[in-house]
Amino acid sequence: MPAFVIVGAQWGDEGKGKVTDMLAERADLVARYNGGDNAGHSVQLGTERFALHQIPSGILYPECLCVMGNGMVINPRTLNQELDELASRGVDISPRRLKLSDRAHLNLPHHQALDGAAEAALGKKAIGTTRRGIGPCYADKAARTGLRASELRAPKQFGAKLRAALEEKNRWLQNVYGQAPLDVDALVEEYVAYAERLAPYVADTTTLVNQALAEGKRVLCEGAQGTLLDLDHGTYPYVTSSYPTVGGALVGLGIGPRWIAKVIGVAKAYSSRVGAGPFPTELAGAVADHIVEVGHEYGTTTGRRRRVGWLDLVVLRHSARVNGLDLWALTLLDVLTGLKPLRLALAYTYQGQELHDLPSDGEVLAACQPVYLDLAGWDEDITAVTRFEHLPAAAQEYVRLIEEHTGVPVGLISVGPERKQTILRAPL
Ligand code: IMP
Repeated sequence: MPAFVIVGAQWGDEGKGKVTDMLAERADLVARYNGGDNAGHSVQLGTERFALHQIPSGILYPECLCVMGNGMVINPRTLNQELDELASRGVDISPRRLKLSDRAHLNLPHHQALDGAAEAALGKKAIGTTRRGIGPCYADKAARTGLRASELRAPKQFGAKLRAALEEKNRWLQNVYGQAPLDVDALVEEYVAYAERLAPYVADTTTLVNQALAEGKRVLCEGAQGTLLDLDHGTYPYVTSSYPTVGGALVGLGIGPRWIAKVIGVAKAYSSRVGAGPFPTELAGAVADHIVEVGHEYGTTTGRRRRVGWLDLVVLRHSARVNGLDLWALTLLDVLTGLKPLRLALAYTYQGQELHDLPSDGEVLAACQPVYLDLAGWDEDITAVTRFEHLPAAAQEYVRLIEEHTGVPVGLISVGPERKQTILRAPL
């Protein structure tokens, strides 16, 4: 049975949690392929709300096997907390159900300290990272100096390697950034304890996922962040350090392209981004405040107010192209209710020229002016609509325009946080 891949099509926070959760219910295996605890996936299950950062949302379904893939960077401290939190709410978190790739890199205290120090040093040019150590951890991976999850299997040796890494990075913190050193002894003790707890979860997940696929199991590959935050295809340097795009699923889990049956792009009905970087359709004032309040646009991980803007079809076309999307899952359509006019960016103008494709140069993108199509909008409450034909004509038109300008059908529309607040236009 082939795999489905869920990718974020904008700057993250597209509502992938809900879409993943809906599909996870019917999946045998859910595998996360990139990023770390910079992500925050919120899932509403009945009256309970879960915020997951590293553990795939499949954990909420007892029959589902969950994998944290080799493309991820794992923070042992926050993973430990996440496990405790789930266990305290009655979720089975036994190693039988949850596997951590032995090839995944470990995101350690010195990465977090260096992330914060580098951001502070950048001043006004800061990327606005989550300060979770993601960039420095992937940098160590690329420099071939990182520690991988396989090390957790031998806690004492892991402790010695961690000590050496901390001592080396302390020199950076002190000599390059003028910061206080980290407490090596205390951290080694703390992290050796995590190694002991986490070791039973460490496994060769590449073999496991391929085996599941060969056995005809239903595999769901879950991406974190979004295409515009991709290290290669995003708005560099205002990106994360991993690959949220579909290619990240192949590398980050170790599977071949033929296993991929469908690539689902999750897009918000408007745009949002956290942190710095170009954002051509960004809004300010009353419309922005409306979207932020109705859409609860505050970060799941950092609590930061998100920047918001009109839907940008240049961005969506870019995402459709680099991910080879089969269909859109359009989320938060209900947030647009009452906004009049509603605007959709079809293209940009830059120095008098019309651009239809996303420029790779951040400075060019920052200077682009959106070419908007103004729509009448709608006032009707759509949060209980479950069929496309029952949406107001203007909302149907909005969806059709997305399809027309991206060449990708909208298969799912979300009109509220709960699962039943979903319009499925074709079975997934
Ligand atoms: P980092 O991933 O912490 O290095 O942050 C790099 C950029 O990605 C910053 O703009 C962050 O705000 C953004 N980012 C990282 N993770 C997420 C996410 O899960 N949702 C939205 N933005 C994110």
